[in-house]
Amino acid sequence: MINKDMISKNFEKLFTAAKAVRENAHVPYSQFKVGAAFLTEDNSIIAGCNVENAAYPQSQCAEASAIGNLVANGFTKIKEVVVIGSGDLLCSPCGGCRQRLREFATLDVNIHMCNVNGHIKTSTLEELLPDSFGPENL
Ligand code: THU
Repeated sequence: MINKDMISKNFEKLFTAAKAVRENAHVPYSQFKVGAAFLTEDNSIIAGCNVENAAYPQSQCAEASAIGNLVANGFTKIKEVVVIGSGDLLCSPCGGCRQRLREFATLDVNIHMCNVNGHIKTSTLEELLPDSFGPENL
């Protein structure tokens, strides 16, 4: 784990983007807004929010929305991640989203987990998804 003093110079930009997109979250069922922002291969920032559905299982996490935006914008790499949840507790990517991130991020990518007030914890993708299965395993 790395501490707040070690987080990248891109953190503030990613945090700002994730916080802004989080406001657009469609969460009539959980009221739990999440925003995610990625740093891409050319240092662009791509963001997404969670989108819930009256048929609950059809809801989409913020990370999944951001991955859709990433691909739609022609990118294939995630170099850094910020996720901002709701409340004070850690909002870490769900299991499914850890695997989704694995498709576009290397295992050393830092995932900064935050609340709206700031950084809580940073873990690498490998820490969140050990012994994972990725594209090179095929
Ligand atoms: N959620 C995310 O968007 N990302 C996560 O990593 C954890 C959970 C969303 C899904 C649902 O809309 C709400 O948070 C409550 O579970």
